[in-house]
Amino acid sequence: MHLLITGGAGFIGTNFIRFVRRNRPGWKVTNLDVLSYSGNLENLRDLESDPRYTFVKGDICDAATVGPLVEKADGVIHMAAESHVDRSILDSRPFVVSNTLGTQTMLDACRRARRGDKPWPGRMVYVSTDEVYGSLPLERPEIRFREDMPLEPNSPYASSKAGGDLLVRAYFHTFGQNVVTTRCSNNFGPYQFPEKVIPLFVTNLLEGKQVPLYGDGKNVRDWIHVDDHAEAVLTVLERGQAGEVYNIGGNNERSNLELTHTILKLMGKGTESIRYVQDRLGHDRRYAIDGSKIERELGWKPTRSSWPEALEATIDWYRTNTEWWNRVKSGQYREYYDKQYGSR
Ligand code: NAD
Ligand code: DAU
Repeated sequence: MHLLITGGAGFIGTNFIRFVRRNRPGWKVTNLDVLSYSGNLENLRDLESDPRYTFVKGDICDAATVGPLVEKADGVIHMAAESHVDRSILDSRPFVVSNTLGTQTMLDACRRARRGDKPWPGRMVYVSTDEVYGSLPLERPEIRFREDMPLEPNSPYASSKAGGDLLVRAYFHTFGQNVVTTRCSNNFGPYQFPEKVIPLFVTNLLEGKQVPLYGDGKNVRDWIHVDDHAEAVLTVLERGQAGEVYNIGGNNERSNLELTHTILKLMGKGTESIRYVQDRLGHDRRYAIDGSKIERELGWKPTRSSWPEALEATIDWYRTNTEWWNRVKSGQYREYYDKQYGSR
């Protein structure tokens, strides 16, 4: 098996590639990543000498780059994206370009690719997000996102991802293409860019700073360990049904206040470390995943996401890998890439 992964130098991509290395050691992996601000090759440095691993710097919107890479692969995990909601509120254009146009480019590359005189036989898994469903009310805890719910994305990020979901649906319907979509909840684990709430809060506390909690802190997210997400995506690649959508969750709903208090406790800090700040514009109130379809149909459920153990292990990773996040927070790692590969 030769897998093409887009966005493999980001948080989930890094952990996914490491998961594949551990669990499918014979597979070849090609990682296509443009190395935007959140792509970091340092995460995968130990794989650089591995003959079954290849890195290609390139843009998913560039058909000339993507086409030959798809043709050589047997399957594609498409997860390259602009991923941060707050950035999409400041400037939505890069989100539409990478997340919607980039997904269209990937789909076309799979459609045009050939194996001899036959169509390309592979499958593309599109790694989408639960944010495409919009927001759930806090007052109705029994309601969770199901795959048959309408798409009601609220942020420019979520809308640009939903554009990808709709294109995947259309390419299945129109061309009968072998595509599957996953919609996962909030991931946590090692190598996450410290703009996202968990690594931001943990590294701020390690630096002796406060943590900026948006609004009243009552917003709820369903937290999943990144290795559970990786395993679920691999399951969908191997056993999912073409044209289907699979939700992936951690069965681990927490309010931001609860999350913050747990982090403070695990790190021996008090509530004086919380700074309440202005709320995010259009801040979705609650995300919660109904993961019964993937469990029923593919036999997968999360096993690594329970708290406080999984959160504590993640905090320990950031405590141990101070140099990694110091370089990321100071932007030093970018200077190195820009010199080596040229800036984007
Ligand atoms: P990330 O920002 O850490 O990584 C994204 C990667 O994509 C980076 O390496 C970046 O360089 C690359 N990239 C961006 N634009 C590109 C382009 N045009 N061409 C090639 N590469 C490009 O994000 P992440 O948190 O690892 O998220 C990965 C995927 O998973 C995204 O599609 C995101 O929507 C989805 N997702 C994330 C979460 C989460 O909690 N982080 C949850 C569900 C789904
Ligand atoms: O649900 C899946 C999504 O989870 C992914 O599709 C996105 O790529 C990923 O970024 C994440 O989106 P969120 O917006 O939920 O994650 P973020 O870490 O930015 O914020 C989590 C919650 O914490 C959210 O309610 C906002 C709040 N928050 C966030 C930051 C950065 C704060 O209170 N303070 C902060 O400084």
